Amino acid sequence: MPRIAVVPGDGIGAEVTREAVAVLRELDRDGELGLDLVEWDLGADRYLRTGLTITDEEMAELGSGYDAILLGALGDPRVPGNEHARDILLGMRFKLDLYVNLRPVRLLHPGGSPLKDVSPADIDMVIFRENTEGSYVGMGGVFKQGTPDEVAIEEDVNTRKGVERIVRAAYEHAGRTGRRLTLADKSNALRHSGQLWRRVFGEVGDEYPAVETGLMYIDALATDMVLRPGRYQVIVTSNLFGDIISDLAAGLAGGLGLAPSANLHPGRIGLFEPVHGSAPDIAGQGTANPVAAILTAALMLEHLGRTDTARRIEAAVEASIREGATTADLGGPLRTAEAGAWIRNALHK
Ligand SMILES: NC(=O)c1ccc[n+]([C@@H]2O[C@H](COP(=O)([O-])OP(=O)(O)OC[C@H]3O[C@@H](n4cnc5c(N)ncnc54)[C@H](O)[C@@H]3O)[C@@H](O)[C@H]2O)c1
Repeated sequence: MPRIAVVPGDGIGAEVTREAVAVLRELDRDGELGLDLVEWDLGADRYLRTGLTITDEEMAELGSGYDAILLGALGDPRVPGNEHARDILLGMRFKLDLYVNLRPVRLLHPGGSPLKDVSPADIDMVIFRENTEGSYVGMGGVFKQGTPDEVAIEEDVNTRKGVERIVRAAYEHAGRTGRRLTLADKSNALRHSGQLWRRVFGEVGDEYPAVETGLMYIDALATDMVLRPGRYQVIVTSNLFGDIISDLAAGLAGGLGLAPSANLHPGRIGLFEPVHGSAPDIAGQGTANPVAAILTAALMLEHLGRTDTARRIEAAVEASIREGATTADLGGPLRTAEAGAWIRNALHK
């Protein structure tokens, strides 16, 4: 029986995770899933209450005692330094070595994109974002802080091992699904890391001769993705560029309220979370879109080998969007709980 740690987290994270868990429990009512869902109290409330973010023992328990983590989002205005989110979320990604940040982006409905004249076939891509290196490792420091001479240095770490394994994961996916793979970098300006990425991309590519490839500078890709999204099927890129370009891609497919993601190390525990954050601007209002969290649950099931059940959830979500049974961010009249209930009901149709 797959064991899932549920970490609702902060703000709308908790609100949307409630709906994702309700979908899983609804499916389990039919005896289909047999999931062991264990709720974990990690987030700003616990940090403010106890001073604890996540302990080494808890991290070890997650890594060895669970098959997956389903996370909402972390981030709370009462913790302006965001240290709890860094310890918990970046801690899981780094300490559990979840080096693949997989971000599928799919237009679920012809009218769902801010672009005109695009169909679902035009926006259907998977972004492989490197998840354990780059500018997010926290290497660097400050000097003369608070003075006019202040210096802040944030190192961008790229290792051969780190680049090779994410590039290989992207080639594997592109090869398996018969899709075109694009490397996005900034090797014209960031020469040292850029050359490493390009060299590795070419070398690993020699092992996948059937995969059609392309190279794009990340800034040019940002424009081209808006003008010709259909050219992009699988994208592999660094931590920072992947963070940004996947938000852009999510926007083209209808917004952050729809975008799921997975943090993976093939063969180990996976961490599944919506791309969006805790949205303090709408937290507590009951208006957050639960779809990204529900599609995240589907992505988790797919990785647990329950592909049919994952497709069933996706079909119910697609129906909700087609019928306009959505929250306000997509122009619909429903509140978070109502949108979740609509999707749960549609599972049985
Ligand atoms: N994985 C994570 O836990 C994660 C990811 C991103 C940001 N954050 C944190 O979340 C906090 C807020 O960050 P932010 O404002 O930059 O990003 P955000 O994704 O929380 O919000 C960006 C905008 O999108 C809207 N939005 C996001 N999700 C939505 C949903 N499901 N339904 C409707 N509208 C939605 C918000 O209302 C906001 O206007 C910060 O503390 C940040 O560090 C956490």
